[in-house]
Amino acid sequence: MKSLKEQIIELKKKKNVVILAHYYQEADIQDVADYVGDSLGLSIEAAKTDADIILFAGVHFMAETAKILNPTKKVILPDLKAGCSLAESCPPDLFKKFTDAHPDHIVITYVNCSAEIKALSDIVCTSSNAIKIVESVPKDTPIIFAPDKNLGKYIISKTGRDMLLWDGSCVVHEAFSLDKLIAVYKEHPDAKIIAHPESETHILETAAYIGSTSGMIDYVKTNPNHKFIVATEAGILHKMQQEVPHKILIPAPAKENNTCACSECGYMKMNTLQKLYNCLLHETPEITVPENIRKRALVPIKRMLELSK
Ligand code: 13P
Ligand code: SF4
Repeated sequence: MKSLKEQIIELKKKKNVVILAHYYQEADIQDVADYVGDSLGLSIEAAKTDADIILFAGVHFMAETAKILNPTKKVILPDLKAGCSLAESCPPDLFKKFTDAHPDHIVITYVNCSAEIKALSDIVCTSSNAIKIVESVPKDTPIIFAPDKNLGKYIISKTGRDMLLWDGSCVVHEAFSLDKLIAVYKEHPDAKIIAHPESETHILETAAYIGSTSGMIDYVKTNPNHKFIVATEAGILHKMQQEVPHKILIPAPAKENNTCACSECGYMKMNTLQKLYNCLLHETPEITVPENIRKRALVPIKRMLELSK
């Protein structure tokens, strides 16, 4: 009897399916993927694939971005309910009122938002390229940045730009406890703290390195230190540990009332290996985007991909 992983690998070859997985997916899913990466890397892969079907092992906005880039391909997601607190924080009707109230502003949106929000944007960015994208806008042009206020504050601190921020946040990165992080650091004073910029300012202030999930993996690979406290979703530890098997990686601790001791994204973890297999077998649930929204959302995504070269 073949294992579920073997059946998935066999079926994806037969159907010419590419499996794109984010670092926050469970380890078994990452192991069957053709490409594992951060949001920017996944968008780049989605833009260049020649597969017939894209199976996106991530959350809804990521699969939607792949569909916007590939309107003629079938894009499937193991669980359609795999959402994102940032995307949910930004309803299109309210956001439209906000942008209409500031017509002189350039609208830069973090990729963690719906297709409707992207359609209202001038440029999209990810945590890998946010600073570069903001700096590409002429200094005298005012900017709206949405939906992540924590990433927005971080960009302001790095670029000195005065941006109007939407009040959204990532529940996973806001779950880190500063007190517990300091306690762990006191136990491991030889560790370097690394953090994702969706984290709150007081967490970022403790970090030796701040960057996207791919940036964090590169940092632990290239930095000579042997111990790191990692402040992002705990799923990243799977690939990170494979890259640096001899180094010690400690997940940053979450607040008392959190569902797990570290910080896990409940949306990302809605995808399971069994759901991925069912999705591959039945080619459903499928992602669809109305054509008028897709065309408008494609423009700021393409701008981002151009500026990221
Ligand atoms: P990156 O992988 O682009 O750093 O994004 C992190 C994240 O929260 C994705 O939802
Ligand atoms: Fe959204 Fe945060 Fe989960 Fe990423 S980790 S999908 S930003 S809720």
